Amino acid sequence: MSETSGNYQADIHNAGYREEYQKILLDHTGLLNIAGRETESLNGQWNFAADLYDTCRRASWYKEETVDLSGRPRPTDWDWEGWDRITVPASWNMERPELFYFEGSGVYTRTFRYVPQKAGERVFLCFEGASYETSVFLNGVFIGTHDGGSTPFTVDMTDTVTADRENRLIVVVDARRSPLRVPMDNTDWFNYGGLYRDIYLVRTPGIYIKDWFVRLVPDGTFSKIKADVAVSGGGGTVILEIPELDIAGEIRIEQGRGSGVFSIKPQDLSRWSPENPKLYDVSFRLYPEGAGPDDEDRVKDRIGFREIKTRGREILLNGRNIFLKGISVHEDHYLLGKTTNPEIIRAAIRDLKEMNGNYLRLAHYPHDRRFARIADEEGVLLWEEIPVYWAIAFENNGAYRDAENQLAELILRDRNRASVIIWSVGNENADTGERLDFMSSLAKKARELDETRLVSAACLVNHEKLKIEDRLSEFLDITGINEYYGWYDPDFDKLSRILSNTNTDKPVIITEFGGGARSGQRGSVNDLFSEDFQKALYIKQVAAFKQFPFIAGLSPWILYDFRCPRRFNRYQEGYNRKGLIDADRKTKKLAFFVMQNFYKEW
Ligand code: GCU
Repeated sequence: MSETSGNYQADIHNAGYREEYQKILLDHTGLLNIAGRETESLNGQWNFAADLYDTCRRASWYKEETVDLSGRPRPTDWDWEGWDRITVPASWNMERPELFYFEGSGVYTRTFRYVPQKAGERVFLCFEGASYETSVFLNGVFIGTHDGGSTPFTVDMTDTVTADRENRLIVVVDARRSPLRVPMDNTDWFNYGGLYRDIYLVRTPGIYIKDWFVRLVPDGTFSKIKADVAVSGGGGTVILEIPELDIAGEIRIEQGRGSGVFSIKPQDLSRWSPENPKLYDVSFRLYPEGAGPDDEDRVKDRIGFREIKTRGREILLNGRNIFLKGISVHEDHYLLGKTTNPEIIRAAIRDLKEMNGNYLRLAHYPHDRRFARIADEEGVLLWEEIPVYWAIAFENNGAYRDAENQLAELILRDRNRASVIIWSVGNENADTGERLDFMSSLAKKARELDETRLVSAACLVNHEKLKIEDRLSEFLDITGINEYYGWYDPDFDKLSRILSNTNTDKPVIITEFGGGARSGQRGSVNDLFSEDFQKALYIKQVAAFKQFPFIAGLSPWILYDFRCPRRFNRYQEGYNRKGLIDADRKTKKLAFFVMQNFYKEW
């Protein structure tokens, strides 16, 4: 049926309707670094409808065509104010029983008033995270779509928002899994959907500071601080101030960018570390070329300065060998789903410290922005990861663009956070040519955006040759290895043989090991899913690691039990039970104390 035929109706005949919403992509080129800026929250009760057939986007509900060309009223299928309300931010799965397994499109809508404060100001709509594909409409206009379920994005709505009246905001979130997405449609975690992280407005002057990256130059001298600054356009001058380091320097801005290197006395620098999570007040003031005094833009941040490098098989923090005493953690809460808050983050860090740990692997996607901010304050080292997980469509250009954009959004969001020491470009991907091209390109991109951190991935063991061997390792600073000897592979002796066969010239982190146990299930050391079995497995694993000094860190799988719609035996009941703490985030299992003792003595 062609679009010209008399009875063509786009909302039921246009199979390619989604292409329209890929024409404006909201990505890492937007305003992502909002540290120190005032935010005006749009959190709260929004009207919501589960739109399983994506009709809002097919039928362009956002245009609100309530009358036909002759002015006669048309029957509409939406009813913004008539719909029930839902909490934002929230994982919609946890908000209504009928939405628990919902993976379609959800339509969120609300109005908000915008009152300009300064002439020429710009106003941005900021999303901390929405899963998975999010299309934004304001006052009847499509203003962009974001792909990716765990990274922030913003929309400059200056030219679309209307002053001094109610603005109609509509957001469609499509949570469908797809073989072409990142992650693809098969993962070992629950696919929560919706506007599950904060939403707010940010205002800036007409010309504003868009991004900054301030770090210690990693040359081992601890004597130079480098600052890169991006401005929304044009030329001008930026003043960088770090009072406690006696830095007050000018950075010349040309064509929107500028850099400066500032000398410090090494002895003056309190180097950030888990034992000393020292943060410095950093501020920038922008004076755009030819602008008046009212056009100044100011931002401020709190930044820790440290150096992370490798030397042979060692990881060096501020020049000293460090063993990463860690554990993996999902962003999954038994009451809130993928939605989190500072109290939950601080509780996870307390549990890590009670285990005598200093490091967390934030699996398998970027966690909430506040995690790295709080880890900076609490002195916890972090591995952050994008969800290039298992069988991604490595041959697909759209999948690569999506993955690279999520990596860029993660790095631009968190590269001023001292706690983040490792960027991970993925997890457990079969070693094929396409995967090698895809992930080595991501590793290269990570280094382009940040020359100071280490790049890794959770690689696979070569189970035929019984050795750590993955072609991707050549492009990584650290080789991460997931191994489940004693669980998926009962022949535990293979672990020692693999570690003995491995002649690596770079650090290895055992990024995953472990086994399942239902909290309170007791039995013999041979009873699968008993706490006694899990404890015995952990005792054997840590005994093996003690024989191999080239292991630079551990992040056993996993701190808490988490929802997983692949796990249905009587002990799991829809959960992955490899946690050392039950999903209630309170009840510790016997194996928790094995790691606690091991890290205490190590
Ligand atoms: C894999 C994977 C995890 C998964 C775990 C398991 O290593 O990386 O995401 O949950 O194994 O099987 O429990």
